[in-house]
Amino acid sequence: MKTAILLVLAYLLGSIPSGIWIGKLFFKKDIREFGSGNSGTTNTFRVLGKTAGLVVFAMDLLKGTLATCLPLIFHLDINPLWFGLIAVIGHTLPIFAGFKGGKAVATSAGMLLGFAPLFFFYSLAFFLIVLYITSMVSAASIASAIFVTLSSIILPYIWPTILPTQNWLLTIVCLALTCYIIYRHKENIQRIKDGTENRVSFGLNKKE
Ligand code: G3P
Repeated sequence: MKTAILLVLAYLLGSIPSGIWIGKLFFKKDIREFGSGNSGTTNTFRVLGKTAGLVVFAMDLLKGTLATCLPLIFHLDINPLWFGLIAVIGHTLPIFAGFKGGKAVATSAGMLLGFAPLFFFYSLAFFLIVLYITSMVSAASIASAIFVTLSSIILPYIWPTILPTQNWLLTIVCLALTCYIIYRHKENIQRIKDGTENRVSFGLNKKE
């Protein structure tokens, strides 16, 4: 019973549509009607600016982290990845926003932060490098998802400080999320192919 309640809580946490609520509350805008139409961090930066973007990123990240930490907080002997995964599902299919949510990236990252913090920062470094090179958050997100999955397999052998033990559930969850992230980015992928994908600066000396 406790497990079921906490899984529902993880879903509800993931369902908090940060970008939509911040946009409506402080800017009187539904960000889904602007930019890429996505309700996630990138479109919040694009439509509402840096401060709102950072707040939404923090919220979308930390809801994944908090959900992942639920079994630890409530002393449940269940792999925390299940709770993180449920939060990601909530983020992409939120009950509070007509089941139309984000593209799974920030909350998946939050899951990693809760599960293996060093692995999160290692992956974040890769994301930022790809973002700097491409100026496309979508490309950086997809590349990072693939990188994280591969890293979850090889890191325990080559850099155990970052990820000490082989964890096949982590790899399977990362693989499933990678497939899902690619699927959720299908329009971005088409725009990348067409050369029309949105480019961002985030103060990184690239053109907006
Ligand atoms: O996490 C979403 C990002 O990868 C792309 O967002 O708004 O450019 O479709 P957007």
